[in-house]
Amino acid sequence: MAGITDLPFRLITRSLGCEFAFLEMVSARSIVHESRRTRRMLSSEGDDRPLGAQLLCNDPESLVSALDVIRPHDFTVIDLNAACPVEKITRKGKGASLLKEPKKLKTLLEVMVRHAAVPVTVKIRAGWDSDSRNARDIALLAEDAGVSCLTVHGRTKEQGYAGRVDYDVIRTVKHSLAIPVIASGDALTPQLIKKMFDETGCDAVAIARGSLGNPWIFRDTALYLETGTIPDRPLADEIADTMRRHLDLNCGFYGEMKGTVLFRKLFTWYVKGFHEIRQLKEDAFRSQTKEQMISLIEKARGYSFRHAEGAYEGYAFSVSRRETVVL
Ligand SMILES: Cc1cc2nc3c(=O)[nH]c(=O)nc-3n(C[C@H](O)[C@H](O)[C@H](O)COP(=O)(O)O)c2cc1C
Repeated sequence: MAGITDLPFRLITRSLGCEFAFLEMVSARSIVHESRRTRRMLSSEGDDRPLGAQLLCNDPESLVSALDVIRPHDFTVIDLNAACPVEKITRKGKGASLLKEPKKLKTLLEVMVRHAAVPVTVKIRAGWDSDSRNARDIALLAEDAGVSCLTVHGRTKEQGYAGRVDYDVIRTVKHSLAIPVIASGDALTPQLIKKMFDETGCDAVAIARGSLGNPWIFRDTALYLETGTIPDRPLADEIADTMRRHLDLNCGFYGEMKGTVLFRKLFTWYVKGFHEIRQLKEDAFRSQTKEQMISLIEKARGYSFRHAEGAYEGYAFSVSRRETVVL
């Protein structure tokens, strides 16, 4: 997830059971220019494996140059993003707009497969809009280009992140391909992740928004798939301990000031569902120093969840700025 799955986030989620992680998507051109920000986005460490890098690109030349630059990083796979719905990306012919240019997408993937030292994968959507749900055709073309695995988000570009995920389109893609298929969309709880496996027959499920403030979802899902039970929600103390660890990692990675500012949104996600937490969240958004943030984390230890009944019941989840789903 762009703006989210940096090294600190990945280390936290891995410590709680995330088995395969991706970097934030990064533009092939910015890799070639090697800005400080891009170098940081590509940085990793020993325990941060297996790890996929995801490129945003629409021209073969930048792609080849970017692949040369990242070769020494030895990522586990390199993925091409043909799924991002953000206007400023699609306007430039990148991300999901590649779904409208199948030939170009195939060429890009063939170039990647030829030049990359590791397996190439691709992320697509159900289609561009409701009139163009071409995921199956695109998936077949990607397989033909030599990709080793494909992720499909069961929404169109037009849907963005709103509306329910379409399991049928993912099932169709899965049954049309010989390569492994990773399913994406509404992987918000262990129950919904099991439903994704059951409904689509997919080989793996990508967890995205479900991990925001809830890195325990990886551990909980593994247990649920194995035993059918879900552990209780972590207590405020465990959440606070994890926040402290995450804040430390952030400050080590970005420096204290930036690490704290970037932690503000993480704080509000971690305490989502806590009873009468609004004031603390507002204070977090005003925190300037690591010490201030630590004192808020310590205060959070005194709070509890509004819904105590079950780990994922009554869990309000905002799927877009306009739509909130209560599970
Ligand atoms: C803030 C945010 C950033 C995202 N960034 C990326 C990205 O960089 N690359 C990508 O393939 N998908 C990205 N996604 C999409 C997710 O990987 C996922 O496909 C989508 O959120 C649907 O899954 P979910 O409903 O379980 O969250 C992003 C989603 C969000 C909410």
